[in-house]
Amino acid sequence: MFQTMGGNPRNFNKLDFYSLPSPCFVIDKKALQDNLEILHGLKEDTEVKILLALKAFSTFSLAPLISSYLDGCCSSGLYETKLAKKYFKGEISTFSPAFKKDEFNEIAQITDHVIFNSLTQIKDFIDIANKFNNQIGVRINPVYSEVKNEKYSAASLNSRLGIHVGDLKNVDFQQLSGIHIHALCEQNFKPLENTWNHISEAILPLSKHLKWINLGGGHHITRQDYQIKQLKKFLKKTSSQTNTQLYIEPGEAVVLDSGILVGEIIDSFKPNNPLSSYMAITDISATSHIPDVIEAPYRPALLNEPKTGYKIQLGGPSCLAGDNIGIYNFKEIPKVGDRIALLDQAHYTMVKTSFFNGIKMPSIAIWDSTTNDIEIIKKFSYEDFEKKLS
Ligand SMILES: Cc1ncc(COP(=O)(O)O)c(C=O)c1O
Repeated sequence: MFQTMGGNPRNFNKLDFYSLPSPCFVIDKKALQDNLEILHGLKEDTEVKILLALKAFSTFSLAPLISSYLDGCCSSGLYETKLAKKYFKGEISTFSPAFKKDEFNEIAQITDHVIFNSLTQIKDFIDIANKFNNQIGVRINPVYSEVKNEKYSAASLNSRLGIHVGDLKNVDFQQLSGIHIHALCEQNFKPLENTWNHISEAILPLSKHLKWINLGGGHHITRQDYQIKQLKKFLKKTSSQTNTQLYIEPGEAVVLDSGILVGEIIDSFKPNNPLSSYMAITDISATSHIPDVIEAPYRPALLNEPKTGYKIQLGGPSCLAGDNIGIYNFKEIPKVGDRIALLDQAHYTMVKTSFFNGIKMPSIAIWDSTTNDIEIIKKFSYEDFEKKLS
């Protein structure tokens, strides 16, 4: 079980949860804007370009706000590339572990950068990419990772993501304009520097061929303890050493602690056994709404959780025995109708929800904590569930 790195409640204590449909994701525009200001400051000081990783957050209703601060989007394939083009401004950079023949033409027409994962994919698609004037890059696996959770360790020895740094001699860099490295996950500055130091000897001689270097995502820049001064120094030094345009493509950092998931207690009980926990069933399903809770796994932070109290096992309404969110302290035994809020639920949530078990997906609301204005931008219905099936 991994500990969440988010969980700053920001202004969410001020929100009236009972005025919302339940369950409901709520994004605080002000918190998002505060994050964007930090990222914009980084851009101004270092000239790094910053792309939003749509895989983490694709709530396009906020695209005008996000686009007014960042340089564009990074996408993982056809649908995200189309979404980026339709709603966001700026550049689009598309990386896929493997592009499919029947999709690549359409991607190449829309995207600015296209990043390949292997020598075969370069060979198969370079002519189409050139036809549409794409800036072509390759993903490199530095084979150096400080990510503890193997599932998120993109730069491990057996990762399928990227050409091993030792195989770069097989790449014809005359055909390319950039390289892409993604080796971090929820990390502070030091692992980035260590990764770069690990590969710089191999990269520096190549940089004369390159226009850009994309340093991927996983930089937890908007976290309070992030060493942003050191990052700024590093970016300035590396861009002048390599004479390239640097990019980063954070997802989490853009929306860190800017969203919550509000839910309701729909039952609570205690089996008549001294060893069993007190249970509460909520209308939030770990498996259908916040699958990373099970996949990572991790325990999301709960707003206003006391340090001690009744230990309550919160779980979802699906049939899955493991649909548990976690064990939490409550001041009082939760009652039917009580509302709760899980913190830091903007990233890798709305993009991952499913209709498993026919469970209603959470509505989505945008709140402005400075004015208390709230708008429900999405509600799901039975028809949405039916439409997905056949
Ligand atoms: C290639 C790539 N870029 C960017 C990201 C965004 O990472 P994060 O949301 O951790 O910043 C990811 C996440 O998996 C990724 O695989």
